Amino acid sequence: RFRVRAGARGAGGSGNGGHGVVCRVSKRPDFASSGQWEVVTESQGKQEAAVFDAVLVCSGHHTDAHLPLGSFPGLEKFEGCYLHSRDYKSPQPFMEKQVVVVGVGNSGIDIAVELSHAAKQVFLSTRHGSWVLHRVAESGYPFDFCYISRFMQLLQNLLPLSIISFFLERKLNARFDHTLYGLKPKHRVLHQHLTINDDLPNRIISGRVRVKPNIQEFMETSAIFEDGTREDVDAVVFATGYSFSFPFLEGFKVVENQIPLYKFMFPPDLEKPTLAFIGFVQPLGAIMPISELQCRWATRVFKGLQGLPPPTDMLAEITQTKQRMAERYVKSQRHTIQVDYIPYMDELACQLGVKPNLLTLFLTDPKLAMEVAFGPCTPYQYRLRGPGAWPGAREAILTQQQRVVRALQPQASGHPACSSAVPHILTVLFSIGMIAATLIYVSLSP
Ligand SMILES: Cc1cc2nc3c(=O)[nH]c(=O)nc-3n(C[C@H](O)[C@H](O)[C@H](O)COP(=O)(O)OP(=O)(O)OC[C@H]3O[C@@H](n4cnc5c(N)ncnc54)[C@H](O)[C@@H]3O)c2cc1C
Ligand SMILES: NC(=O)c1ccc[n+]([C@@H]2O[C@H](COP(=O)([O-])OP(=O)(O)OC[C@H]3O[C@@H](n4cnc5c(N)ncnc54)[C@H](OP(=O)(O)O)[C@@H]3O)[C@@H](O)[C@H]2O)c1
Repeated sequence: RFRVRAGARGAGGSGNGGHGVVCRVSKRPDFASSGQWEVVTESQGKQEAAVFDAVLVCSGHHTDAHLPLGSFPGLEKFEGCYLHSRDYKSPQPFMEKQVVVVGVGNSGIDIAVELSHAAKQVFLSTRHGSWVLHRVAESGYPFDFCYISRFMQLLQNLLPLSIISFFLERKLNARFDHTLYGLKPKHRVLHQHLTINDDLPNRIISGRVRVKPNIQEFMETSAIFEDGTREDVDAVVFATGYSFSFPFLEGFKVVENQIPLYKFMFPPDLEKPTLAFIGFVQPLGAIMPISELQCRWATRVFKGLQGLPPPTDMLAEITQTKQRMAERYVKSQRHTIQVDYIPYMDELACQLGVKPNLLTLFLTDPKLAMEVAFGPCTPYQYRLRGPGAWPGAREAILTQQQRVVRALQPQASGHPACSSAVPHILTVLFSIGMIAATLIYVSLSP
C-alpha cells in the first residue's frame, strides 16, 4: 500500500525514474479520510495522473533565482551584460573583462575567486559584508571534521552566543583581518549563514579581487559604488541568492521564503499527515545527512507508526522557531530556514528514537563514546540504535578518521587523524570530564 515517488525535473531526467516534471499535487476529494494525493506529472508533452498515499516534496530551496534588479538604479541603461549566478557556467566568456560580482554568499565568493583567474579585474560588491570561514582547518584537516562535534556543541550550549562569536571572529580575523580586507560586517559571525572559502584572501591580496560596497547606480559602461568610487564594468554577476516556491502544490504559498512547517517538514494544518518537505533547511554542515533523518521520520509518520502533535502545538512551535531565528539572524530572506546542524539533527533523532545515548555509551562502550563525543558528528551516529539501526555503525564511527586520513595519503597509511592524536593521559582526563559533561549535555538537550 505504501508507495512514494521522488521528483526530479526534466523529461526522462535522472533521479526520478523518468517520471518527468510534477505539474500538480492536490488533495483527493476524500483526503480527510484517506490522506491521499493526486499527482499529475508531465513527460515528453504527455500528462499522467496517479494517486499516492503520501508525498515527499524534495524540490530543493533553490528553485527560483532571486534577481532584485529593482534595487539597482540605472541598470536599464547599462550596456554590458548581466546574469544571475545560476546562469554562470564558466569563466571563459569573461576573459579579460571587468566584472562585478554582487553578493558575498557562497556563490558570490566562489564565482569571484574563479573569475579572478580569467577576468581582467573582479569587483566583489557587498552591502553588509560577511565573515568568511575556511574549509581547511588546523593541520589541514577539514573544518567540519574538527569542529562539528558533540563536544564543541556542548561548549556552544554552555556559553553565550556572544562569547562563541568572539572566539570564532578572533580565529577568522587571525587568518585575515576582515576590516583590512573590507569584508567586516556589522553583525556577529553566528548571526549570518556562513560563507566558506579558502582562496578569497589570496585573490584579494594579489589584487585580482577588489572588495567594494553596494552598487549605488549603473551608468552605460560603469558602476558607481556607495563609497563614491566609479569603475568601468563589462559584466555583472548577481549572486543574490534564491527563493523557493511550490507551483505544483495547491494551497501552499511561500511568502519571502517563509512557509510554516513543523520542524521545517510538516504542514501543521492537514487533516492527515501525509505530506512532508525534505531539505528545506540551511545548516552549517551538509544538507544530506539532515535530509536522510527527515526522510526516516516522515516515512514513519506516513506509515502511522508515529503521530504528530496537535495542530495548535505545532503552530506554537513554528512561531517560537521563527522568533528565535529572527532574534539571532540578520533580517534577510536568506535567513528563513536556518538550523544548527547537530541540535536540529538531534531534534529529528529524538522524534525517531535514534539519538545516541552518550551516558549509556560511556558506561558500556567508552571507546565508541569518546569518538561520538569528540569526533566529527557523522550520520552513522543515528544508526547505533532504534528504528533503522545498522550493525556496521559502530565500526564505521571508529574508523571514520582513518578514512579521512587515507583519502589524503598517496598510499594507505596508519597516520592518525587530528582528534585521535590526543595523548592517552588527556584521553583519560577527558573521559572523566566527559562523564560529567555528558550529564550536563543530556539535561540541556531536547
Ligand atoms: C552553487 C551551490 C553549491 C552548493 N554546494 C553545497 C555543498 O557543497 N554542500 C551542501 O551541503 N549543500 C550545497 N548546496 C546546497 C545544495 O543545493 C543542497 O545541499 C542539495 O542540492 C540539496 O539537495 P535537494 O535534493 O534538497 O535539492 P536539489 O539538489 O535542488 O534537487 C531538487 C530537485 O527537484 C527537482 N524539481 C524541482 N521542481 C520539480 C518539479 N515540479 N517536478 C519534478 N522535479 C522537480 C529539481 O529539478 C532538482 O532536481 C549548494 C547549493 C548551490 C546553489
Ligand atoms: N561551495 C558551497 O558550498 C556553496 C556554493 C554556492 C552556494 N551554496 C549554498 O547555496 C545557497 C545559496 O547561496 P548563494 O550564495 O547563492 O545565496 P545567498 O547565500 O542567499 O547570498 C546572497 C548574497 O546576495 C546578497 N544580496 C541579496 N540581495 C541583494 C541586493 N538587493 N543587493 C545587494 N546584495 C544582495 C546577500 O547580501 P545580504 O547578506 O546583505 O542579504 C548575500 O550576500 C546557500 O545555502 C549556500 O550555502 C554553497
